[in-house]
Amino acid sequence: MAGYLSGDARKVTTHRLVEMKQRGEKISMLTSYDYTTAQIVDGAGIDVILVGDSASNVMAGNVTTLPITLDQMIYHGKAVVRGVKRALVVVDMPFGTYQTSAYEAVTNAIQIMKITHADALKLEGGEEVIDSVKKIIASGIPVMGHLGLMPQSINKYGTYAVRGKSDEEAEKLLRDAHMLEDAGCFALVLEKIPAALAERVSKELTIPVIGIGAGGNVDGQVLVVADMLGMTNGFSPRFLRRYADLHTVMTNAISQYVEDVKQGDFPNENEQY
Ligand code: KIV
Repeated sequence: MAGYLSGDARKVTTHRLVEMKQRGEKISMLTSYDYTTAQIVDGAGIDVILVGDSASNVMAGNVTTLPITLDQMIYHGKAVVRGVKRALVVVDMPFGTYQTSAYEAVTNAIQIMKITHADALKLEGGEEVIDSVKKIIASGIPVMGHLGLMPQSINKYGTYAVRGKSDEEAEKLLRDAHMLEDAGCFALVLEKIPAALAERVSKELTIPVIGIGAGGNVDGQVLVVADMLGMTNGFSPRFLRRYADLHTVMTNAISQYVEDVKQGDFPNENEQY
């Protein structure tokens, strides 16, 4: 069995992730939003658990990540941290909590850290939010950057298409990536950009670059857990590999339960007091 149950049980730290990049060991990262899933994901040996603001879509059924609140992210963060022994837990700062000013950003960041006991925070953007990034890091909180497709800016883009395809966008992304590294970020997520651009960023930076839809030549990979387990239906971007079909497994199990209840087969004499 993989994971802390039989393998390396040492807690993953931001420093260990940088060491992993240095020795060429790929970093595995998945989202989780609740205690039970986090326990399974951590026990299976994942390096980083992201309490993503994709909880807005996956947990709450919103169309975008914009509506999720600070209190809701804190609720999810607390639940995940309780389930984790080994992985580094990173909580997304939700839309509107770090864009207005560096002061508001650090105030909200401290609140998330104090209440959830997470290890680090992630936020989207480069130059536009660099003052917030610096202030949060100066307060002692590790920050993971996020460039490329940034779902909190969906209303600006108007589409979830691949980013960084034009020379102008690619150059800005490279500049932003260096700026985030220079500001002290411990890692960077690159979402849905050409593989060649992601590889270049990964080669130029000393901090780990973790891709989602950014090809294999980066330092690690992240997916949304409900997508890779096949719980979500009808979301099939090219970058997604489904490792299970839990939608079918769960539907069949629940249909069988309904049938057993209707038929009076559940509970039987061994399932009662
Ligand atoms: O919120 C999220 O799940 C994310 C990942 C897609 C990286 O930011």
